[in-house]
Amino acid sequence: MRTSRILLYCRAGFEKECAQEITAAAAAMGVEGFVKARPESGFALFSAHQEDMGAELGRHLEFARLAFPRQMVRATDLIALAEGDRVSPIAAAIHAIGRRFRELWIEMPDTNDGKALSALTRPLAPHLEKALRKAGVVFDDAAAEERLHVFFVGGKACHVGVSRVDNSSRWPMGIARLRMPSGAPSRSTLKLGEALLEFLDEKERAKRLAPGMTAVDLGASPGGWTWQLVHRGLMVTAVDNGPMDPALLDTGQVKHRRDDGFHFRPAEPVDWMVCDMVEGPAKIARLASRWVAEGWCRETIFNLKLPMKKRWEEVGRCRELIDEALGGGGYFLRVKQLYHDREEVTAHLARRRREPIHSKRRQEGQP
Ligand SMILES: C[S@@+](CC[C@H](N)C(=O)[O-])C[C@H]1O[C@@H](n2cnc3c(N)ncnc32)[C@H](O)[C@@H]1O
Repeated sequence: MRTSRILLYCRAGFEKECAQEITAAAAAMGVEGFVKARPESGFALFSAHQEDMGAELGRHLEFARLAFPRQMVRATDLIALAEGDRVSPIAAAIHAIGRRFRELWIEMPDTNDGKALSALTRPLAPHLEKALRKAGVVFDDAAAEERLHVFFVGGKACHVGVSRVDNSSRWPMGIARLRMPSGAPSRSTLKLGEALLEFLDEKERAKRLAPGMTAVDLGASPGGWTWQLVHRGLMVTAVDNGPMDPALLDTGQVKHRRDDGFHFRPAEPVDWMVCDMVEGPAKIARLASRWVAEGWCRETIFNLKLPMKKRWEEVGRCRELIDEALGGGGYFLRVKQLYHDREEVTAHLARRRREPIHSKRRQEGQP
């Protein structure tokens, strides 16, 4: 599909950050354009000034590099829909962009207005599917590389577009809907649960989050993040002056240290450090880079609580701090505003070369 437009879904209130991020990413690839990003709309639309440049951008932009967008779709311009027949113009637009797709997602912004739209889209879906079949469009081809999106921005207009399955969010609307685990002591557990799904694939989780591995949880109380690690069989040192859930301590996998997370150092290197302390983002970014630079942990997931203003700039500053601390390479960093994040983003930082950590403690079978 050739289009000069890139549609980005985001958390309502973060349209400006999406606009800044896509503009900067496009400029870095030599593409100029403009962004429509109405506050609280839950999405932003980038249009390149030159169609061929926009198409190039859509082909090469890496979704994983973007922090604020939840989903990235190469989209058509807005399609006007008449009340009597919404299906025909959508089916025609889809027919014009391709014939075979992995799946069809009918979506809307994650806002109150967007939620109200499902009363319209739910009954429309079977009619659209029927019209597409009739037009020879396949939307359940397991071998297809692209997914089809119909994104309603109101009852009278939608965008149609595609995303590459390997370069987009795998969740409809870019939202990882996770069930609250019954044994976890806080809802914060969902943030780390989502981060582990977002940053590691199934194979990586099996290899790098294996039973018997070790972790430190900074700012652990009451234990939602610790629960995620314990649940996967890790041995966790939970650092916080606040209390830990007694059920977690009873597992025998958790050592509670009433200590300051900024001063705590592990006696032996650990596989993971996770951190959910409420502190300035730059201070947390420095701390996390230090853990990786000193080899105190092999990889880390940490939450950055963003200020009210200049949130995109703050993320950029944290990236720079990490880059300075780790010497401009040799590390892997991803930053994402997860569905379960609010005024925050979550980051994953790891050394590039994964040396196994043979801690003496682990060999002795101790936490
Ligand atoms: C958002 S809560 C963490 C929730 C936790 N991740 C969970 O899932 O249950 C932040 C925690 O950081 C702790 N904290 C803040 N500053 C700290 C510090 N300097 N050292 C250790 N813990 C700290 C607070 O006591 C609080 O329990």
